[in-house]
Amino acid sequence: MAKWFNAGLIIATIAFASCNEKQHETSATIGTTKKEWGEVDGKQVYLYTLANKAGDVVTISNYGGTITSWVSPDKSGNKNSIIIGFDSLSSYRQDPPYFGALIGRYGNRIGKAQFTLNGTTYKLAANNGPNSLHGGIQGFDKVVWAAGVPDSAQPSLTLKYVSKDGEEGYPGNLDVTVVYTLTDDNGLKIEYTATTDKPTPVNLTNHSYFNLTGNVKNTILDHYLQIDADKYTPVDSTLIPTGELKEVKGTPFDFTTAKKIGQDFNSVPGGYDHNFVLNRKDASLQKVAALSDSVSGRTLEVYTTEPGLQFYTGNFLDGKFTNHDGNPLLIHTALCMETQHFPDSPNKPDFPSTILQPGQTYHSVTEYKLSVEK
Ligand code: GLA
Repeated sequence: MAKWFNAGLIIATIAFASCNEKQHETSATIGTTKKEWGEVDGKQVYLYTLANKAGDVVTISNYGGTITSWVSPDKSGNKNSIIIGFDSLSSYRQDPPYFGALIGRYGNRIGKAQFTLNGTTYKLAANNGPNSLHGGIQGFDKVVWAAGVPDSAQPSLTLKYVSKDGEEGYPGNLDVTVVYTLTDDNGLKIEYTATTDKPTPVNLTNHSYFNLTGNVKNTILDHYLQIDADKYTPVDSTLIPTGELKEVKGTPFDFTTAKKIGQDFNSVPGGYDHNFVLNRKDASLQKVAALSDSVSGRTLEVYTTEPGLQFYTGNFLDGKFTNHDGNPLLIHTALCMETQHFPDSPNKPDFPSTILQPGQTYHSVTEYKLSVEK
């Protein structure tokens, strides 16, 4: 068995605190602990709890690599989760729209569910109108990942998945590793690496939905958002980029200085679901966005090495699912900031390439950093 399996695992008692009718972990012994959480396709699924010195607690399952909650104190010291989600595996098996999950092999859409690479056309599953979304019918969000706790000074979790040649129509065996780390200064860091044995598109992300108030009775329209992007990629009626990189200046897409998400909302039919072209000179880890909310006093900064950020305002949430806090997840009650390469890049030669070649290593880092006003 690989060395990283279970090395440094701290067995600890997890304290539970009541949160309306539901329960989820709000405090735990510092380190990483795990508990059995059910089975999928005969494979054991676990729920891991990462707790840091500052008292933040993040729970992650090896089913879909899903972050199920991130509990932190608000400005009054009340603890609740800024990530929406559920307490049971069975809820995640009812196909919620990617809540908290790892997305792959290709985050966001590939137009007409196909692309041509080195003269061969690859057909993907069309699971979103004519397009392929978030890796296909059984993307990385719906598989059981091998999990282990690395020997690390900070609470962390390593997940591994081998996506077979031909899976969901993609070429090449893709070996993927994702490491989640909860830092002592309340950063949730996600580090992705992957290798392949045939050229293939790769675009990995995490699909957490945030509501900084921790209470989905509040929509996210009063949150303030700043995105360091002078341009975005406009889309057609099926949400595929037209190929243009459009200036945000003078449009509802201008988040270059912090603005209330609801401010220009009426001018964006359906709500925001767009890829922002991040201002960057190189691929270093850089602060690209900041989300804040005055109810909780919380701020969430986003750092990434990626060139794009999909800002999605939960436009398709319809009340079918119920959050940890017992409230239905209605439209615009949560938002996503998915760090990524641009949608449909395999069909857009002018976009930064998403093709991974054999012998290369895909490497991408994103960190969500949480703070609260005192
Ligand atoms: C992404 C997409 C959205 C939607 C959600 C999941 O954010 O851009 O259009 O598919 O995922 O519902």
